[in-house]
Amino acid sequence: MSLFRTKPIDVNANTGLKRCLGAFDLTMLGIGCIIGTGIFVLTGVVAAQHAGPAIVLSFVLSGIACAFAALCYAELAGAIGGAGSAYGYAYSGIGELIAWIIGWDLILEYAVATSTVAIGWSGYFGKILELAGLHLPHALTNAPLDGGIANVPAMVIVLLLSVLLSIGVSESARFNTVMVFVKLAAVLVFIAVAAPHVNPANWHPFIPPQVTDAAGQAHFGLGGILTGASLIFFAYIGFDAVSTAAEETVNPQRNLPIGIIASLLICTVLYILVSGILTGVVHYDQIDVKAPIADALKQLGIGWAEALISLGALAGITTVMLVLYFGLTRVVLAMSRDGLLPTPMARVNPRTQTPVRLILGAGVVIALIAGLSPIGKVAQLVNLGTLSAFFLVCASVIVLRRTRPELKRPFRTPWVPLVPLLGMGFCAFLMAGLPAITWEAFFIWSAAGIAIYFLYSYGHSELAKPG
Ligand code: ALA
Repeated sequence: MSLFRTKPIDVNANTGLKRCLGAFDLTMLGIGCIIGTGIFVLTGVVAAQHAGPAIVLSFVLSGIACAFAALCYAELAGAIGGAGSAYGYAYSGIGELIAWIIGWDLILEYAVATSTVAIGWSGYFGKILELAGLHLPHALTNAPLDGGIANVPAMVIVLLLSVLLSIGVSESARFNTVMVFVKLAAVLVFIAVAAPHVNPANWHPFIPPQVTDAAGQAHFGLGGILTGASLIFFAYIGFDAVSTAAEETVNPQRNLPIGIIASLLICTVLYILVSGILTGVVHYDQIDVKAPIADALKQLGIGWAEALISLGALAGITTVMLVLYFGLTRVVLAMSRDGLLPTPMARVNPRTQTPVRLILGAGVVIALIAGLSPIGKVAQLVNLGTLSAFFLVCASVIVLRRTRPELKRPFRTPWVPLVPLLGMGFCAFLMAGLPAITWEAFFIWSAAGIAIYFLYSYGHSELAKPG
């Protein structure tokens, strides 16, 4: 039964981290983490190859799944809190093994996402250098299996962010807010400049007829919208990272639910507008799959806006990495503090009030993955890890309402168990739309996690210590 041991709840615990973030900072962190490669890069692939103009419906479907999950996150973040996010909620409410599995999924989500986004960053960085007439050699912008030596820009940006995160959370949040304004400006400029050029003829057919490619894979049609939703889900990832800032938040019970829900809402509206306008100004079969938003403006002949969008995208992708990386360190911090991962990692530097050792160690690992491994090939692993964590978060709301009815819940998920059940259903549905290779990688990751739990964490858990 000790697999189900739980730990006590202390929403306002003093953990050595600095409590300085308010609702505005959290909403900015959320937007910082959400708007990035999803909208600036993946939109092109999904519109051109999977859904056509109906990419708007893919965004809506995926957004609904996230809305249900966000309502569940908000309840747990307000009632339980903690840097470990969903890992901590499950640890307090359900038990250690499930908590470990969620924590392991979150590590996958944040570490792999930071690495893949770093590769996307490197691509955009290279483009901007090219606009300035500079060219980086192929060998220094590609991992060994992709014909290069290392993706140097991807490694350098990760290491730079590790310095920023080590310096302090308020400094990081300030940098994030500035960059978020730059990327929001880029998105709003795109909407304002491109909207008048929408040609409704481009939206016909709204759902292009299904076609099967040479490899036997189906594209477009209803199936295309669903596959598109599973892929574009990546664009929404990040609102959950807000919850990992719980121990650095002032009045977390009020501010966390606001930050989570507000950031998701703002981004959902922007995504639907941007993807609708994109497919309205460029016919879906003419959309550039690498830099769709900037390229659409190029096709319209609005050169100044193209450069601005590229810079906005670079700023945007930088904050995505920053917040995902931040989330990773906080989840690992919580897991180490509980003894499930080696405790020396849990040391918070008293001067900077940040877990410096952990930040630098994680930075080196992420930089190595981003620079040297072919991680981009299994990028959708991030979607799978995140969706499974969301699934368990929704389930936790139902379980905790039964096992811990007395908990103070400043924010209550409406219509429990309907909303969490719908959340679970939507997440399962999106998971089913992901390719087999992603599932294989996910099973390997999960099996490794379970093995580590029984070989190490179970015995080293703080809860295993006598007295
Ligand atoms: N949602 C983040 C992005 O789109 C991960 O880059």
